[in-house]
Amino acid sequence: MSKPVLVTGATGTIGRDVAKGLSEMGASVRAGVRDQAKARKQFGSNIALAPFDFENEKTFAGALEGMEKVFLLPPLLPNQLELMNVFVDAAKRAGVRHIAKLSAIGVDDETQPMAIKWHGANEQHIRESGVAFTFLRPNSFMQNFFTYFPPRNSAIYLPWGKGTASFVDTRDIASVAAKVLTTDGHEEKIYTLTGPATLGIAEVARILSEVTGHEFKYVDVPEAAARDGMLQAGVPAWQVDLVMELHAVNKQNRWSTVTSDIEKVTGTHPTDFAQFARDHADKFRAS
Ligand SMILES: NC(=O)c1ccc[n+]([C@@H]2O[C@H](COP(=O)([O-])OP(=O)(O)OC[C@H]3O[C@@H](n4cnc5c(N)ncnc54)[C@H](OP(=O)(O)O)[C@@H]3O)[C@@H](O)[C@H]2O)c1
Repeated sequence: MSKPVLVTGATGTIGRDVAKGLSEMGASVRAGVRDQAKARKQFGSNIALAPFDFENEKTFAGALEGMEKVFLLPPLLPNQLELMNVFVDAAKRAGVRHIAKLSAIGVDDETQPMAIKWHGANEQHIRESGVAFTFLRPNSFMQNFFTYFPPRNSAIYLPWGKGTASFVDTRDIASVAAKVLTTDGHEEKIYTLTGPATLGIAEVARILSEVTGHEFKYVDVPEAAARDGMLQAGVPAWQVDLVMELHAVNKQNRWSTVTSDIEKVTGTHPTDFAQFARDHADKFRAS
């Protein structure tokens, strides 16, 4: 019988599949969520819920009570690092024995954007806590093409130049997390999670066009225009800075490595971009 797991970020892109995956594997799962109604609609009555807010320490003890493992999903918050570290300390005090942290590719790079520095510092804090850990370091998500930068008027606008990335499907990340939290041998391990191929944005547009039968093109946006566009859309300035730093790394082609860690952990090939596009074709046809 696997140990009880608290899943944070359970109403988000990765977390909901982690909670469902664990539940399907017969694990005892508790989803720590801010919005109970949203979570209930998503999960039905299959998954236990606990009120949980990283920004409210008073919710930690109830959510963590009786939990031996945690899936830690750091949400995009300006004080993310501080909040994650406080939560790790609370998890340790509550008797948690293993944290699977969603981190990011690039933590070992010589120079890092702020979002990656936060993940690296939180990894370090977990190491120093003495709680067993597994760090999942994914590359850019395929799902970003309908969450963060969906096509507009049949065009993908990004300041990536000819930059490429080994985009990964978040469903594969969730499968790795569920496996790591229910089987032995993953403690003190770091997995760099990538898709099976390195793609530029023009290739992404070509695959989306082939799969949907609807023509998409890539528009390589100057960085200043990308920044202004986000600010005008109401994205907070701190978040714009964070995202622009990540785009700059992508433009430099620094995150193009393809790894086999997904297959090593799950025994299954990572999803390729065409399959991802087929599975979400309806979302793209509407773009
Ligand atoms: N996007 C990429 O390409 C990429 C690549 C590598 C790593 N990452 C990392 O992936 C993480 C984001 O994952 P994601 O895309 O799955 O996130 P997401 O879809 O934005 O989901 C965020 C989750 O966190 C919850 N949340 C937000 N604020 C909270 C709070 N104060 N207390 C408790 N829960 C809170 C949200 O709940 P509500 O439903 O209540 O809002 C939601 O369940 C980040 O750490 C990022 O650095 C992203």
